[in-house]
Amino acid sequence: MSIRQKVIILDFGGQYNQLIARRVRECNVYCEVKPYTTPLKEIVSENPIGVIFTGGPRSVYLDTSPQVDKKIFELGIPILGICYGCQIIAQLLGGSVVPAKEDKTREYGKTNTYLDINCILFTGIPENSITWMSHGDYIEKKPMGFINAGHSEACPNAAIANEEKKIYGLQFHPEVNHTEYGKNIIQNFLFHICGAKGDWNMGDFAKMTIERLKNEISAESRILLALSGGVDSAVLAALLSKVVGKRLVCVFVDHGLMRKDEGDEIEATFKNWDIHFVRVNAEERFLSKLQGIKEPQEKRRIIGAEFGYVFRDEAEKFGICEKDYLAQGTIYPDVIESGEGDAEVIKSHHNKLLPPEVMAKFKGLLEPLDHLFKDEVRALGKDLGLPENIVNRQPFPGPGLAIRIMGEVTKDKADMLRQADFIMQEEIFKSGENKNMSQYFAVLTNLRTVGVMGDGRTYDRVLALRAVTTTDFMTADFAQIPYDVLVKISGRVVNEVSGISRVVYDITSKPPATVEWE
Ligand code: XMP
Repeated sequence: MSIRQKVIILDFGGQYNQLIARRVRECNVYCEVKPYTTPLKEIVSENPIGVIFTGGPRSVYLDTSPQVDKKIFELGIPILGICYGCQIIAQLLGGSVVPAKEDKTREYGKTNTYLDINCILFTGIPENSITWMSHGDYIEKKPMGFINAGHSEACPNAAIANEEKKIYGLQFHPEVNHTEYGKNIIQNFLFHICGAKGDWNMGDFAKMTIERLKNEISAESRILLALSGGVDSAVLAALLSKVVGKRLVCVFVDHGLMRKDEGDEIEATFKNWDIHFVRVNAEERFLSKLQGIKEPQEKRRIIGAEFGYVFRDEAEKFGICEKDYLAQGTIYPDVIESGEGDAEVIKSHHNKLLPPEVMAKFKGLLEPLDHLFKDEVRALGKDLGLPENIVNRQPFPGPGLAIRIMGEVTKDKADMLRQADFIMQEEIFKSGENKNMSQYFAVLTNLRTVGVMGDGRTYDRVLALRAVTTTDFMTADFAQIPYDVLVKISGRVVNEVSGISRVVYDITSKPPATVEWE
């Protein structure tokens, strides 16, 4: 298969690097993120139509800072530097980058910025708009041959350009949504400067990934896929069955913390697929391990490890061994929130918690979706021909109800939550509001409050309703459930679910909250 036009993103360690890749993919242009240490020869051999230098946490003037071969500027390949990437262009080509003085030139957050609309990078963009800045150094002097193409109050060189050499630098982050015209700037770079055709799509991603895995995985190797029934692992099942056919074994672990009837529904769906599907009922195994555990990260760790042990046991049963692979539908938010690389641990997603002794049983771990965002996985699923009900299924976390039951997890609490959650799902669905929400569910808090029912005093639990809208699950807004729907849910829950006497509604966005409560 001939590879279409490619953009290379040179990674200098910034927080938003995968977001840049995502923005490029959104423009239907293929891109690859590569470390800044990638030899120039390798970059040239890939014949990219453009190169983007990402941001990064260091200062370009330090001896230890990431560098790039200066000859890259002589190749005639269009280059866009973002933040650190812009500063490295300035520094290497004879400008100067210095620390911000007494906070006067340091900027963080939404910043009023003036752009030179005669510069091709800013075609069709207003002269004055909001950009997202995050820098402690600034370009004091631009390099020879460059024009000043933008400024803010604090930053004299918010954008620099050498139009003849097609080298551009932005002090701000166009990939972040807060930059009002960021998407247009990236489009201008790709289409007007690099000459991109915009003819790449997720179908191409599927073809390339299948081809790559066919080359990587030997003809004797088998794959055990951790199938949760959610969109990510379902898409991966479809993809991997095209790589190894019947050598794929899909293991669905029902840990007893699924929603009402969910285990049976998943079984019914995947039994109809042309794959080797195995259901493992492991409720007792998980609940006994969770006994007495209250701390959220500890629950996640135990569940992640237990999944691993079940996969190891199933692998043994099916004769899957050291020449074979374990596969998971890990996606990018799982990776970043679990604190990989330099990122802070927000919560360890269950699929990042496999014990080393489990991993030692396999040749390796396959996670081919780990750079994609949720909506991209859905697009891929559509391309692979997966049915609507799977592609648009709302996400359900691997640890299941365990992270929606505050404090210790017990079967009684799981049953109580299952019933309340079902009522919420049913009422939201009946109202048609499900179309306006990305995810909605109930949380059983560990609070008890006093109430009155009939003529008697109650001292029962508080249930919280959570509903969000989002595209990438990295940020989310709380969804606005209409009052009449809230009234129905609340009325039914307190009447139908014994043990719950109060219902509250979570009106917090992410950040500062997260989607799940634990
Ligand atoms: P948070 O709570 O991190 O949730 O804002 C973002 C999205 O990720 C889902 N989530 C998980 N999915 N394993 C998963 O497969 C996990 O451990 C996990 N934790 C959160 C969550 O439901 C939401 O869709």
